[in-house]
Amino acid sequence: MFVISIPALQRNTSILREVREQSGARLVLALKGFSCWKAFPHISADLDGCCASGLWEGLLAHDHFKKHVVTYSPAYDDEDVAALCEFTDHLDFNSLSQWFRFRERIMAHPRFISGEMKCGLRVNPEHSTGETAIYDPCIPGSRLGITADQLKGADLTGLSGLHFHTLCEQNSDDLETTLAAVEEKFGHLLRSDQFTYLNMGGGHWITKPFYDREKLVGLVREAREKYDVEVWLEPGEAIAIHTGVLRATVMDVFESAGHKLAILSISATAHMPDVLEMPYRPDVFLVERSADFSPHLPVPAVTFAGESYVPAAEEGEHLYRLGGPTCLAGDLIGDFAFPRPLETGDVLVFDDMAHYTMVKTTTFNGVKHPPIVLQHGDGTLETIREFGYPDFRDRLS
Ligand SMILES: Cc1ncc(COP(=O)(O)O)c(C=O)c1O
Repeated sequence: MFVISIPALQRNTSILREVREQSGARLVLALKGFSCWKAFPHISADLDGCCASGLWEGLLAHDHFKKHVVTYSPAYDDEDVAALCEFTDHLDFNSLSQWFRFRERIMAHPRFISGEMKCGLRVNPEHSTGETAIYDPCIPGSRLGITADQLKGADLTGLSGLHFHTLCEQNSDDLETTLAAVEEKFGHLLRSDQFTYLNMGGGHWITKPFYDREKLVGLVREAREKYDVEVWLEPGEAIAIHTGVLRATVMDVFESAGHKLAILSISATAHMPDVLEMPYRPDVFLVERSADFSPHLPVPAVTFAGESYVPAAEEGEHLYRLGGPTCLAGDLIGDFAFPRPLETGDVLVFDDMAHYTMVKTTTFNGVKHPPIVLQHGDGTLETIREFGYPDFRDRLS
């Protein structure tokens, strides 16, 4: 099962609330990273609303978060724009062709005329700060955002916002150099009276202990004062990082060509696809019920009373290749060493599974989807979603 800790979420959002208060930024949850809406009532007071990747996330934000909705999608169709115009507060466009296609309709809409809905453009400052190409929207030929070159001579009537999203798991020093690039390429727009908001996207690792929040606060304040704009931040990961786990059961253990293998009740490809896509190696813990382990050992984001947690190592005598119950030969989570042989029925805890990977789960191969559970401050567990055969059956017809 996926278990999400409400106190852990609130620990993150209280840090974000401080950033909002100190910097004057408006701060919204990027639903693409975490959209478990039954948790929204526990965190909404700390945040200004949600960032939606399109119509469906926008509807979720509108119906269940009930605060500001800031929408950006690489492309909208007629139905998206017609529906979004009824409730979104910002509607940001990825290209001039998309904006020109819908501009007339949007500018005639009562919510646009009254100023309730504002429109913006995602720009590409062409300033790469990350290491991984798949997460870099600034690569030459990127499909995400308009370059300064593409903007030259364009009629920008009707637009009042600029949006950039170029960071991924980064600190505020990378935001600083990115802002310098934005200033160089788009500063003339921000200085004009026409532009009233600047959305600095997500990718800010604000809730990590080493993140330089003071610098972020300074950068936001500076931008607000210099350009007289509202500044928006839309983190996803920073809100749900270290707040949830995926608990799995060992279903089988055997050996093949000298490798010890364990088949688990959860699958890399169906339940934690970022392990394969990013790719990354999750932290894994073996649950022991009676052992007396050192209190100094790390523990997963969610713990249960009466359990001890032994972190898996990279090397060791009892090294297992952990895999899922699907047909995909590569449905592998990795090789992990435990202090004793694994047995059928053992429980393993995969750390940090609340953000991103959880929003991408599937029922590939008809594997059982883990239930979703909230853990409240007093330790009580609330199962908010269980999945059964009808969920698998009804998804495709
Ligand atoms: C436009 C936009 N905003 C916000 C985010 C959230 O980023 P993160 O979860 O890294 O903070 C993303 C993530 O891809 C994004 O594409």
